[in-house]
Amino acid sequence: MQKIALVTGAYQGIGLATSELLMEQGFHVIMADIQSCSALVNNFRQKGYTASHLKLDLAMSSIFPAVANKIEEQFGRLDVLVNNAAILVDLGRHPSLIDEDTYRRVIEVNQIGPFLLTRALTPLLKKSSQARIVNVSSQAGQLAQLSDMASPIKDDVCAAYQSSKIGVNANTVLFAKELEPFGIKVNSYCPGWVDSGMNLDELPDYGEHIRLKSPKEGADTAIWLATLDADGPTAGFFSEREKINW
Ligand SMILES: NC(=O)c1ccc[n+]([C@@H]2O[C@H](COP(=O)([O-])OP(=O)(O)OC[C@H]3O[C@@H](n4cnc5c(N)ncnc54)[C@H](OP(=O)(O)O)[C@@H]3O)[C@@H](O)[C@H]2O)c1
Repeated sequence: MQKIALVTGAYQGIGLATSELLMEQGFHVIMADIQSCSALVNNFRQKGYTASHLKLDLAMSSIFPAVANKIEEQFGRLDVLVNNAAILVDLGRHPSLIDEDTYRRVIEVNQIGPFLLTRALTPLLKKSSQARIVNVSSQAGQLAQLSDMASPIKDDVCAAYQSSKIGVNANTVLFAKELEPFGIKVNSYCPGWVDSGMNLDELPDYGEHIRLKSPKEGADTAIWLATLDADGPTAGFFSEREKINW
């Protein structure tokens, strides 16, 4: 039976790469984004893949029940949810410098939206025999590093984005514990620095040893987590398919 995956932020970057890699593994991918993925889906169909598109703004949780109903009517279940979409609009902003609207917007899109979408889709994930939830996080939200006053990147700051990714990691652990009895594995991962639409132009200069990954390289751990066997991990935080500290 063909597996069904929903990927948010599928229009470009890591979400688009994740969608394509899942299609290559035989998945039907529901490509969800605030932008229309209709032309992308047509292209993938011409290549022989199966996909559908869904206009979805993570800040508009009122439509999530209708999204769940539509997926239930069409497919009856969901096998994989990749909570990938996020915004980064506060590079260089310390807590005292970020305005309230920006802070609220980032937490809404990056943390609350994925939490509520996961909750709305949980009944459909429970209908899968081996459901997997992949939360795309970031080492920008790795508390072990953020709280290390000797870390070489301790001065890197994007207060709202970092807080939101800590929240994403909390979502991972909380859902993993609740859904463990249903065989559903929930993990976070950091894709590393990826050449994508996300605004990385203002990154500090770390020298030539930093190479931006391609979106497909960045998506590799997402594919691994989306296709974990029954004995695979849950409630973990990963980078390059290896467990890392929270
Ligand atoms: N790129 C990196 O180096 C890096 C590093 C660590 C972690 N990550 C994480 O990787 C994930 C993907 O990042 P990316 O670099 O691929 O980003 P990206 O290229 O900016 O793609 C993100 C997609 O999400 C969409 N989106 C934005 N707001 C949305 C909303 N409210 N609802 C639904 N979709 C929305 C964006 O649309 P618009 O373009 O219209 O905003 C865009 O199509 C994110 O969770 C990010 O935090 C990325």
